Amino acid sequence: MTQSRSTRGLQTRIVRPEDQITPGFEAFTVPVTRASTVVFPDLAAMRACDWRNDGQWRYGLHATPTSLALAQRLAVIEGGNHALLQPSGLSAISNVYFGLVKAGDDVLIPDNVYSPNREFGDWLARDFGVTARYYEPMIGAGIAELIQPNTRLIWLEAPGSVTMEVPDVRAITTAARARNVVTAIDNTWSAGLAFRPFEHGVDISLQALTKYQSGGGDVLMGATITVDRELHLKLKSARMRMGIGVSSDDCSLILRSLPSMQVRFAQHDRSALALAKWLKTRPEIATVLHPALPDCPGHEFFERDFTGAGGLFSVVFDGRYTPAQVDTFCEALALFSIGWSWGGAQSLVVPYDIASMRTAAQWPHRGTLVRFYIGLEEEDDLRADMEQGLAKLASAA
Ligand SMILES: Cc1ncc(COP(=O)(O)O)c(C=O)c1O
Repeated sequence: MTQSRSTRGLQTRIVRPEDQITPGFEAFTVPVTRASTVVFPDLAAMRACDWRNDGQWRYGLHATPTSLALAQRLAVIEGGNHALLQPSGLSAISNVYFGLVKAGDDVLIPDNVYSPNREFGDWLARDFGVTARYYEPMIGAGIAELIQPNTRLIWLEAPGSVTMEVPDVRAITTAARARNVVTAIDNTWSAGLAFRPFEHGVDISLQALTKYQSGGGDVLMGATITVDRELHLKLKSARMRMGIGVSSDDCSLILRSLPSMQVRFAQHDRSALALAKWLKTRPEIATVLHPALPDCPGHEFFERDFTGAGGLFSVVFDGRYTPAQVDTFCEALALFSIGWSWGGAQSLVVPYDIASMRTAAQWPHRGTLVRFYIGLEEEDDLRADMEQGLAKLASAA
């Protein structure tokens, strides 16, 4: 016999409160729904719950209304049908590998790829019986010659987020589709705003939401976005097997930032392009690697395929400056902090030793590469800061 509620002990009434949240509360915000256990009205509903359907709640690890709201918005931004959230951009990368690649398979990776992706490929090759081969990012249709019968996955990054080459995405995806090979692009640089990968034949778009989507430098998250449901389910199944999920609190932080992302991106883009053009006039700088400027390899593909650039670009210092002198410049900057990642409000700077990172291609530049992320500070203040940093470089020389 069911016990009447009022006769239950206090502890039971605290654990299972009898109050009902007032329905009909409407707001622009998505509530934060935290849960591990999701309860079903009856066993029939529990048994009918299918993990493949995104809107069927099964267990908090897999999805909550908060995480699904974020996933759906990301799919809309990118022009896809499905998005799968991951606790970091790198875990979205590793999930693509785990979802699609097995021992005996081959993977093609651009030589300029985000280096932890490269390290992941090397790890699979060393310990898991997969071959990982690196291709010259400007290879274009020539990728066809590298595709083998066991090639399962081709990575792209557009542009390479340090050396900034913009690949001919359409040429690579056309060759891949002709041989039934899945393509995955790290589309983080464009935030999914300035480049629409599915219109260029890409199968999986990957975002490190840690960057522009978060916008605050305070959340780590990643996502893969797909048009094809079967592909989404392969990735979803891999994520489920590995016990990976995201917190609704983190999702709500990103949901809060998404409405301002496009406006922020446009502002980063304006300041970054202006500063890149100014750096091009400076005698200390040999080359400006900004996809919107002609010195950047693949500039023609940027012009053809992209609608904007955001805040991230690189320069190569004149070869007469030693790496130590370029370090002096970086450390002299007051408004550029030294640190990885990007997408927040604050400007960042990092010098790179590119020659030691490349294998497939000869790095053509002699000087040191420095990557800038242009934040939301005033453009004039950033220019003045760079100017005083360059003056220190000259005196250090
Ligand atoms: C191009 C690119 N992809 C992916 C990632 C990984 O993102 P996360 O830091 O969220 O793992 C990064 C991080 O810097 C990145 O630069």
